[in-house]
Amino acid sequence: MDYEESVAAHYGGADVLERLLAVVRNAGGDPAHFAPAELRGTDQLHIGGRAATSRVAERAGIEAGTRVLDIGSGLGGVARHLAGEFGADVHGVDLTPEFVAAARSLTERTGLVSSVQFTQGSALDLPVADGSFDAAVVIHVGMNIRDKDRLLAEAARVLRPGGVLAVYDIMLAGGGIEAYPLPWAATRETSFPQPPLAYSDAMGQAGLEVDSEAKPLAEGIAFLERALDGGAPLGLAGPALGNLLDAFRAGLLAPVEIYAHRP
Ligand SMILES: C[S@@+](CC[C@H](N)C(=O)[O-])C[C@H]1O[C@@H](n2cnc3c(N)ncnc32)[C@H](O)[C@@H]1O
Repeated sequence: MDYEESVAAHYGGADVLERLLAVVRNAGGDPAHFAPAELRGTDQLHIGGRAATSRVAERAGIEAGTRVLDIGSGLGGVARHLAGEFGADVHGVDLTPEFVAAARSLTERTGLVSSVQFTQGSALDLPVADGSFDAAVVIHVGMNIRDKDRLLAEAARVLRPGGVLAVYDIMLAGGGIEAYPLPWAATRETSFPQPPLAYSDAMGQAGLEVDSEAKPLAEGIAFLERALDGGAPLGLAGPALGNLLDAFRAGLLAPVEIYAHRP
């Protein structure tokens, strides 16, 4: 198994759609037709859920009609939020076939198919044309990707001049990481967190100009504390969230946002 197959195997699983539909059903909703909010953020696989997606969208200037590429789109929660709340036109690309299938099904059930589509593919070889997007987002994906230069060169390639890139990942804040599992990897073999400088250097090499950086650490700690209190989303093992919380508190890892644009 190459490492991309291992990453997809980590995230995949036949019952992922059923588990999300159960969230809607258990709250009295109709799993055939429902509003994205009825998934209660379980389709947003990142620290901060829908609130964090809104923050990233605002900082990236995403608005009605913005053509957005969602790189590593997971279950499509980010894409549906950008379309439903901001009016964007979103194309999601993700490595994990089960996630792409679930993302499509959830998007049909929430009535957003006219503005959201998904393709299975790699962030390192994006199946989209040069210069075809106004914005690209990478949310909690880079930790699974060893080659940050290639990731960010591909993101830069798909942006039109003036287009914006928003990266919101868990990054290395200091020291080494010993404790696995983490939410994105069961072992170190598929885990490549790097410091913000690795991202901003790669952005520069890709011809992007970095505009701003933020580290919402206190919010990340509060989010994980609440998640551990209330049960982990999507059956994510408690130990993975606990290890991430410990690494945040110890200053080893931190959630970081970096915004850049293509001149
Ligand atoms: C933690 S999830 C985040 C999903 C989504 N961005 C969100 O915030 O809800 C990470 C996602 O990245 C995808 N991924 C990891 N490596 C990838 C790669 N090389 N190319 C495309 N997708 C990748 C995984 O399949 C998974 O769906």
